[in-house]
Amino acid sequence: MEPTRTVSIIGTGSYLPEKVLTNRDLEKIVETSDEWIYARTGMRERHIAAADQASSDLGAEAAKKALEDAGIPATEIDLLIVATLSPDMFFPSTACFVQEKIGATNAFCYDLGAACSGFLYALDAAKNQILSGAVKTALVIGSEKMSTFIDWEDRGTCILFGDGAGAAVLRAGGEGRGIMQSAMGSDGSLADLLWTPGGGSRNPATHEMIDQRQQYLKMQGREVFKHAVVRMGEAVLQALEKNNLTVDDIKCFIPHQANIRIIDSIAKRLGIADRIYTNVDKYANTSSAALAIALDEAVKDGTIQKGDLVALTVFGGGFTWGANVLEWGK
Ligand code: COA
Repeated sequence: MEPTRTVSIIGTGSYLPEKVLTNRDLEKIVETSDEWIYARTGMRERHIAAADQASSDLGAEAAKKALEDAGIPATEIDLLIVATLSPDMFFPSTACFVQEKIGATNAFCYDLGAACSGFLYALDAAKNQILSGAVKTALVIGSEKMSTFIDWEDRGTCILFGDGAGAAVLRAGGEGRGIMQSAMGSDGSLADLLWTPGGGSRNPATHEMIDQRQQYLKMQGREVFKHAVVRMGEAVLQALEKNNLTVDDIKCFIPHQANIRIIDSIAKRLGIADRIYTNVDKYANTSSAALAIALDEAVKDGTIQKGDLVALTVFGGGFTWGANVLEWGK
């Protein structure tokens, strides 16, 4: 295949599991209140996957909708990437499970680990594979069953997360500039501010590890908050500069849906409060799925129209962060 000059998103989809857990429901699980959660996070409710649903099941549902939206069969997918921090299992990849569920028999598949930043990193990876001419069509999914990795006895974290999945189909060519250049960065020196310390090769599964609840996500919320605001704001400005654009050129900003206060701080810094897209009240933080779900909703509800420039930005464990810009061509 010849290298291409543009890469476009030709379809999006998302899936939220049926069960809804409200702040009032959380009041029965930990010592908290609807008022506290809403004031500190902007969250009202989140969706929780069924016991027999794994991340690949959520991802496959989102993928089917994205393929339908794109109007292509799964067999046209050359590359399938799943961004997740809650894989079905360590290996094989969740991407291989999704491949089998949707019948993407001609794709090569892998998972991408960048915590909550994963979907944006995966979009960038897939875009570059397409730009090089290595593949023509890619399916990028952010899928999370966070509810299995959070500690339902820790009120500082369990209120913040939800389950869900979002997907996008990318293809060579298309009108406009398509997916533009990203600005991304990481800082491993801050890993311990947001991580799941147990269960891997550093601290494998033992009775003692489980007794200490090390298999669950741990977070120092205040520190994470500060870094998230700074890094996402900087990343947006860097991505705009790389693409010779300014804040005024952007029709819609979609940030990682971690917390309305983080989103409001970025909006204020950049002067973009009137153009920020958020759904954190309905879904809470679905990690790598959050950006993908928000993009799909913003397209489907008409917020994003053909020819609009959209800026995406993310932040997550690692730390990892990034932003990119795309011209919507559909
Ligand atoms: N309900 C009621 N009280 C709670 C609570 C809850 N769910 N969680 C914590 N508290 C209490 C704390 O115990 C503390 O009490 P104390 O003062 O008696 O010790 C008090 O509220 C303040 O806690 P603190 O953690 O300092 O609150 P905060 O204002 O920083 O808000 C977060 C906590 C988690 C909402 C906030 O730090 C945050 O959103 N951080 C970013 C998290 C994030 O987005 N992570 C993912 C990034 S990808």
